[in-house]
Amino acid sequence: MTITNILPFNNEAIAEAVGLILAGQCVAVPTETVYGLAADATNGEAVARIYEAKGRPSFNPLIVHVLDLAAAREIGEFDEQAAELGETHWPGPLTLVVPLRQPSAIASIATAGLPTIGLRVPAHPAMQALLRAAGRPFAAPSANASGGISPTRAEHVLKSLGGRIPLIIDGGPTERGIESTIIAATGGPLRLLRAGPIEIDAATPDAGRIEAPGQMASHYAPSKPLRLNAMTAELDEHWIGFGPYDGHANLSASGNLTEAAARLFDLLHRADEADEARIAVAPVPEAGLGVAINDRLRRAAAPRS
Ligand code: TXA
Ligand code: MG
Repeated sequence: MTITNILPFNNEAIAEAVGLILAGQCVAVPTETVYGLAADATNGEAVARIYEAKGRPSFNPLIVHVLDLAAAREIGEFDEQAAELGETHWPGPLTLVVPLRQPSAIASIATAGLPTIGLRVPAHPAMQALLRAAGRPFAAPSANASGGISPTRAEHVLKSLGGRIPLIIDGGPTERGIESTIIAATGGPLRLLRAGPIEIDAATPDAGRIEAPGQMASHYAPSKPLRLNAMTAELDEHWIGFGPYDGHANLSASGNLTEAAARLFDLLHRADEADEARIAVAPVPEAGLGVAINDRLRRAAAPRS
């Protein structure tokens, strides 16, 4: 069990938080919407620890937080519409989903392997100070255990994630209390993916996605048939190993689930591009992060219409 410190927002707290984030840990930080659980978005294992701490049974693309529009444009491709929205509403409670620039420094687990990315420039001074001091983007979903209510006070975070994360920065109650508006600007008309504090008239609601963000049809899935629990592989199979089952690649030779989660989407992409016609994946234990890994693998293996 981890001891969870709570520090009031000040320079000392930011220094402590930066050290943890650069060491690959996640830290709860207030934003103007809700408290976020922030980790280095360029470090796959750090992002996997967010899922571990939240006890989340599936992988969703996470919102990546940056200091300003210029930083966002280094990561995503902004057309005129997207740039105008960023200029008007940032910093603030708006997330823009845009095409991901390639090659990307962002860990593939942060985008759940998608070719797009959700980017946001938060307005809260604590999150801004931390982003500035760390000099890198943060993946940050709401800082609550899976299925819980989004936290608007440090005490809510402590109740939900106490003993699972090393630090909560206490910035008092959040101003908005609900998560950011999410707009997709990926070409064509703007689409509203999640309603929130900012209303954008030009966006058409995309109801299917708002109700079931984890089930998004656009979630990355390989184009080839995929076989689960493979303890050996056929000649025409690209075998993704785990632990002692050492295939063409290995999610984690030491059987570490955090490492496996961090590598999952990269290895699925590689398997898709390999010469073999099919994909086989070694068994992954159904415990801890293994639950989310297996959920993703089962979806990837399910027949597609
Ligand atoms: O207010 C907020 O936005 C809070 C605070 C902490 O900043 N953050 C937050 O992040 O709510 P998160 O990671 O929980 O938001 C994830 C949601 C996904 O469920 C999905 O709906 C959307 O953001 N999303 C992220 N990336 C996406 C993408 N590439 N395509 C479609 N939707 C995406
Ligand atoms: Mg949430």
